[in-house]
Parts: sequence; C-alpha cells; structure tokens
Amino acid sequence: MTLFKDMLKGDESLFRNEMALDFEFLPKLLPYREAEQRHFATCIAPLLQNRNGRNLFVHGAPGIGKTAAMRFVFRDLEHETDEVVPIYVNCWQKNTSFKILIDICDQLGYKLTHNKRTEELFEVVKQILNKKSAVFAFDEIDKIEDIDFLYSILEEVFKKSVFMITNHRDWLLELDQRIKSRLLPEVLEFRKYSIAETKGILKERADFAFVPGCWDDAAFDAVTAKTFELEDIRSGLYLLRESGMIAESKSSRKIAIDHVKQAIAKMDEFSVKPKDDLDEDANFILELVKKNSGKKIGDIFKLYQEAGGSSVYKTFQRKIRRLADGKFLGIQLIKGGSEGSTSIITFNSTKKLTEF
Ligand SMILES: Nc1ncnc2c1ncn2[C@@H]1O[C@H](COP(=O)(O)OP(=O)(O)OP(=O)(O)O)[C@@H](O)[C@H]1O
Ligand SMILES: [Mg+2]
Repeated sequence: MTLFKDMLKGDESLFRNEMALDFEFLPKLLPYREAEQRHFATCIAPLLQNRNGRNLFVHGAPGIGKTAAMRFVFRDLEHETDEVVPIYVNCWQKNTSFKILIDICDQLGYKLTHNKRTEELFEVVKQILNKKSAVFAFDEIDKIEDIDFLYSILEEVFKKSVFMITNHRDWLLELDQRIKSRLLPEVLEFRKYSIAETKGILKERADFAFVPGCWDDAAFDAVTAKTFELEDIRSGLYLLRESGMIAESKSSRKIAIDHVKQAIAKMDEFSVKPKDDLDEDANFILELVKKNSGKKIGDIFKLYQEAGGSSVYKTFQRKIRRLADGKFLGIQLIKGGSEGSTSIITFNSTKKLTEF
C-alpha cells in the first residue's frame, strides 16, 4: 500500500498554528473596532472612580466582532483593576434567571448553589458584588426566556454597567417598560466591515495560522471576496481552514484558487451560531427536527410532547423561530390547504460552520 506516500509530512504541514482560526481565538489586537471598544470603556469608566456606570445596548449582524470586542474590553479591565468585576453571560446557553444566577455564582467562585432558589442565589450575588462594582455583559440577550434577573440587577446592584448584545435591534423596543425606564441604555450599532477591513482581519489570522508564503494571492482574494459577500468573519475563518485542508489533502504546498472554490462549494448556507450555544431544550428540538425533517410544525410539536418535551406550544414555536434565525433549520410557510396555513420545518443538513 502506498496510501500515505504522497501526503505532506508533519513538518510540511501548511498550518503552523491552526488554533488561530478558532472562533474563540482572541488576537492581540482587534483592528477596526477601536471606536467601539472606546465606547464600551467610557460606559465602564465611572466605575473606576467609584461612581455608577452607564448601560449599553449593542446590536449588529452576526460575525462582525461584537463578542470579540466585549471580551477585549473585559481582558483590559481585568488587567487594570480588581475593583470592577466583569461578568459575561451567553443568554443562549443560560436563558433563564435561574441559570444566569447559577452561572454568575460560578464566575464569582461561590459554590454552595445546590438547592438554592433564584431569589437566594441573587442575594448571594448581590452581597458579593455590592462590595465592589460590576460590569455585566449579556450576550445574545434576545434569547432570554425571562427578564427578572435584569430587573433585580438594575434595582439592587448599586454600582454597575450593563451591556446587552444582540443581532436584533428591535429587542429593545419590545422590552418591558419597567425595565426600560431603569436601564436607559446608550445604543451602539456595529457596522459591517468594508472589503479592505475584511481582508485585513483575515490576513492577520492567516499570518498566525499558516506557514508564510503558502497562500496564492488570487486564492486569498477569493476568500476575502466571499467573506465580504457573506458579511461574516466566521465564514472567512472557515474558508481559510477548509482551503488549507483541501490543499493539504492534495499534497499541494500552495493554497490555490481551486482549493478555495472547493471550500466555498462545501460551505454553502451554514449555521452562523455555534451549536454549543444552544440550550438543552433547543438542542432537543433540533434533534427531533433532524429525525423528522419536512414535517408540519404541529406534528413535530406532538412528537416533542410525546418525547417528554415540557415547553408549551407558544414557547416551542418561538424556539423553532430562533433555531431558524441561527440557520439550524428552515421554516416554509404553506398557505391555505384543508387545515389552514401551516409551517413545514426542515433540518439544515448542510455542514454547519462549527462542526469541523
Ligand atoms: N476586527 C476584528 N479583528 C480580528 N478578528 C475579528 C474582528 N472582528 C471579528 N473577528 C473575529 O470574527 C469572529 C466572529 O466575531 P464575533 O464572535 O465577535 O462576532 P459577533 O459579532 O459576536 O457575532 P454574533 O452576533 O453571531 O455573536 C471571531 O473569531 C472574531 O475573533
Ligand atoms: Mg457574538
């Protein structure tokens, strides 16, 4: 057998630091988002002078550096002081007040959460945080199922800044008035990157990730163009990695335009959100849809109930819509018919961006 004869050897790999293409990888600098990071910092700054901070509502399309900017600012803040506690919560994973408070306790190093109710957990959090001040970042805030935690924080944590991050600008408009009037947030939109910015970002990541000189210029431009078209840096990171792997599988020492074309063909429509971010129930629903792709929403709900699902139909519908939002599944509305209008739910079987 000569299966491995023509393959590149370990020391011939095109990658030198593949981790730099991970979505969670935090580069040294976050170019083109300086103004946004400065805005974040000005909301937090009063806390450093022992005054109350300002709240910020951040919105913008997927994959354009909102979460990354928040993590950068938190990293700087941690270097600067111990008096302001940064707390980051992903509300897609932690989508109830209870889950959020457990998460915050965990971040604060408080372990005795067992058997405690939401209110008791909040008391613990309040006691700890009111000795200092806190910055809360609630990422994917629109995925939240109940908003009580926010009310409690606004009312009872004295010195704080609350950041809320979402793709959906309208979320703020629909927010409960009693919270809105206490929150009074500034609003910051993250705009999309220009083609030159897109190229700059990808270039920096590629310089980390690949052996120098292995990218053909035209191939790299093709990745930039596709990423710019999709307006999502994650798709660019995916294409960089995938093109590199395809080139390696062909034992090529250069990544050429053909490899990029194949990577683009593989990508198609992918999910823009990491699957890890889905809560248990959403994952459960997604698995059901996967097995029953193409069925009516009502039928899938019946199966969901039979399988022990606990959400009521309205919640179930909302979760389906959110999964569609993240491109995990498709909803096709069928008008008319003998039973009136209905929706057909299909599983997005194309390879998910994060499943490689
Ligand atoms: N200006 C930038 N410089 C370097 N990397 C960037 C920049 N903007 C985005 N990225 C990278 O792109 C990827 C997606 O960014 P991020 O996770 O911050 O997106 P997001 O705006 O939070 O998207 P979503 O709304 O889907 O959560 C990350 O790997 C991030 O490091
Ligand atoms: Mg994000």
